[in-house]
Amino acid sequence: MGFLNEALLRFPEAISLASGRPSAKYFDLRESLEKFDAYVNYRMVETGKSEAFILSDLGQYNRAKGIINAELAKFLAKDEQIHVNPEDIIVTVGAQEAMMLILTTLCHPAHHSIAIENPSYIGMSTYAKIADYEIASIPTTPEGLDLSALEESIAIAKSKGKPIRLLYTIPDYQNPTGNLMPLAARKALLAKAEEHDFYILEDNAYGYFNYEGEKIPSIKSLDEKHRTIYVGSFSKILFPSLRLAVVAAGQSFEFEGKTLALSEQISTTKAYVSLNTPSINQAILGAYLRDNDFSLVQFSEEKVAGCSEKRAAMLAALEKYLGNQAQVKWRKPAGGFFLTLEVPFKVEEANVIECAEQYKVIFCPMSFFYLDGIGGDHEIRLAFSNLEPAEITTAIERLSKYILSKLKV
Ligand SMILES: Cc1ncc(COP(=O)(O)O)c(C=O)c1O
Repeated sequence: MGFLNEALLRFPEAISLASGRPSAKYFDLRESLEKFDAYVNYRMVETGKSEAFILSDLGQYNRAKGIINAELAKFLAKDEQIHVNPEDIIVTVGAQEAMMLILTTLCHPAHHSIAIENPSYIGMSTYAKIADYEIASIPTTPEGLDLSALEESIAIAKSKGKPIRLLYTIPDYQNPTGNLMPLAARKALLAKAEEHDFYILEDNAYGYFNYEGEKIPSIKSLDEKHRTIYVGSFSKILFPSLRLAVVAAGQSFEFEGKTLALSEQISTTKAYVSLNTPSINQAILGAYLRDNDFSLVQFSEEKVAGCSEKRAAMLAALEKYLGNQAQVKWRKPAGGFFLTLEVPFKVEEANVIECAEQYKVIFCPMSFFYLDGIGGDHEIRLAFSNLEPAEITTAIERLSKYILSKLKV
C-alpha cells in the first residue's frame, strides 16, 4: 500500500481508483463535538451527578471493556439482530485493534493455525504474519468460502499439530472483491466451525452500504452455538479518525485447561495493549446512538444513497467504455466500496506506474490482497467510495484507454 501512496505523490494529477476511503463529504466533525456535550448531558440526567463529575470521569482512565456497552448492546440488537450482554461487548480502537486482540487472545502461534479468506483485507493478514501465525488461505468466491479447501487446510493443520483455531472473514461486500456471502454459505460455514471446533472472526466494515437486494443476516446473528466473534467498525458509517469498533463475543473458551469468558480475556489483553479506548470518542458515539434511537440505518441513508450513485456511475462508465470488450469483465457488487475488474493481461506494479504516468489514473492490482502474493494476476480492485460520480466517469474513461492500449499490443 506504501507503493500506491508513493504513486499518488509522484503523479498528483492522476485520479485514484485505488483509495477505499469513505468520502469526507459526509463527515460532520463539528456535529460530533456537539455530541460530546450531548453525552455529558445524558449522563448528568441519568446519574444526577454534576457536569464537573461527569467530565472528570470522562477524563480519567476508564474500563478496558468500554463505557458505552449498554448503548452498543441496544444498537447491535436493533441493527444486526445480535443479542449480547453488555458485559460481552468490548469497545476497541477500530476494527484493526479488535483483530489483534481477538487473534492474540484466542490463538498462540506455537499451538494454533489460523485461516484467512483469500484475497482479503491486508490489515488482518499482515498483522498475523508479523505475529508469526501460520496462515491457511481459503479461496473466497461470490458463492462464499471454498469449504472443501477449508476441510483440506483443517486436516493439514491438524497433522502438523497446529489445528485451525480461528477463521477470518468479511461476509458483507468484502474488501477487496465486493463479494456478499450468501445466506446458505454463512450457515454452512457455521456448521463447519461447529464440526471442526474453530471460531469465526466476522469483520463487518461495509454492512450498511447495501444498494440492492435484501440485507443478509450477519453470521453472528445466525450463530446458535457461540462460534462467532463479531467486529463492527464505525469508520465508514461515521468517520475513520473516530477509531471505534464494537466487538461482540459472548462465548467461553478453553485455555490451558481452564474455561474462560472470552470477553473477559479480550478485555484483559486490551488492558495491556491500550488500557482503554478513548472515552471522548466513545461519548461521541454514545450520543449518536442515543439520539438515533440506537439505530444507524436512517442516519446513514444519505451517505449510502451517495455511494450507491457512485457505484451506478462506475458501472455505467464501464459499460460505456469497455462494454464491447468481451475479454474485460466485472461483477456488479450489491454493496460496499469495491468492484473487481478482470483484464486479459498480467497486472503488475509497472502497469500502475505506466497508467498513472500516461493516462492519469491510479488503480490497485488485486494481487496486493492475495495472501502469498499469488493470485489475482489478471484482476484490478476498483474503489468508487471516495470520488464524485463525474470523476469516476473520467477515471474509467482514462482507464479504458489504458486497457485498450494493452489489448492492441
Ligand atoms: C474489511 C476491513 N476491516 C477493517 C478495516 C479497518 O477498520 P477500522 O478503521 O475500524 O480499524 C478496513 C479498512 O479499510 C476494512 O476494509
